[in-house]
Amino acid sequence: MATPSRVYSGIQPTAVMTIGNYFGAVKNWVRLQDERECIYCVVDLHALTAPYEAGDLRNSAREMFVSLLAAGIDPDRTTVYIQSTVPEQSELCWLFATITSLGDLSRMTQFKEKSALLKDGSVDDEGSFISAGLLFYPVLQAADILAYRAGCVPVGQDQSQHLELSRGIARRFNSRFGFLFPEPETLLTHVPKVMSTADPTRKMSKSLGPKHYIGLFEEEASVRKKIRSAVTDSGATPSGEVSPGIENLLTLLTACGHPDDADQMRADYFAGTLRYVDLKGQTADALVALTGEMRERRADVLRRETDLDARIMEMAERARGMAGETLARAREKMGLFPPGAPRAVAT
Ligand code: AMP
Ligand code: TRP
Repeated sequence: MATPSRVYSGIQPTAVMTIGNYFGAVKNWVRLQDERECIYCVVDLHALTAPYEAGDLRNSAREMFVSLLAAGIDPDRTTVYIQSTVPEQSELCWLFATITSLGDLSRMTQFKEKSALLKDGSVDDEGSFISAGLLFYPVLQAADILAYRAGCVPVGQDQSQHLELSRGIARRFNSRFGFLFPEPETLLTHVPKVMSTADPTRKMSKSLGPKHYIGLFEEEASVRKKIRSAVTDSGATPSGEVSPGIENLLTLLTACGHPDDADQMRADYFAGTLRYVDLKGQTADALVALTGEMRERRADVLRRETDLDARIMEMAERARGMAGETLARAREKMGLFPPGAPRAVAT
């Protein structure tokens, strides 16, 4: 029997993990630990492509590391690490840049959207500065995944196009230099896209501002407020479709473990008997239960992990071992010299 392939995924180190991240990706990360070898990364190098404060970045990465442990990632079974602690991936990114077409990169939807926002100056004062890093973002993502020769990548729907590019890079490398990389498959959850409750036509995202997302560790009062003011509609239309706002609340209720209630409410919606206060009340209760439990687990992690930075370095060692082996093989296949050993130089 073939060995089950490794699982790999990453998340950006914004200090908040949203319920979109959780239902769309991280819930799968937790589950997969029971089935396969898993490697998860807090991608601080990717975060350098958006406006950020250097003085805050380490702390945001630590916060996300803790959030992952609280969500159920078990560092005794799983390698969970911070991207900048493994420089091998950045080198692999350069090697991959040479087999990636500029045309493919400039066609990436995320690049087009993010560069359009920067161009109109709505993100920060620097206005139209669009870094090459933003263009290279998916090449680094391919290097992340392929450095571990992972075959399965659990993500939300917004990452599908990037993963298609990763497969293309693996294919091109293998056909030019000989087989090294399995082509990574995308794994979606049942909820591949959670929408903003304030604007259910847009993806729930931290970058839209606080009223557009609910944090996995958010306090009860603010969760209730956001659900109370969630955008709905003025009743079912004859088209037979559920409006985006109602659909999103039903999805959240289902994702919190109440699919039967959600099905009943969907039927009531079409019968014209659904009271939106009831749907909002139940969804809020379910989310409050989830976020309350998550806050407790977060506090437990902080009590347990007394030396977080030591834990982070221990994980880095594990990850570097794996990535270093792949990088050495890729360098050799591409015809490069092995790296020279560093020698201390008096300054
Ligand atoms: P990010 O915070 O952008 O690094 O995303 C981390 C993971 O969460 C990725 O796999 C995303 O696809 C997923 N994700 C982020 N926002 C959502 C959302 N609103 N719905 C579903 N998945 C999401
Ligand atoms: N680009 C992903 C996001 O924005 C994060 C990411 C970086 C990632 N490297 C990865 C996801 C490797 C999966 C695999 O959400």
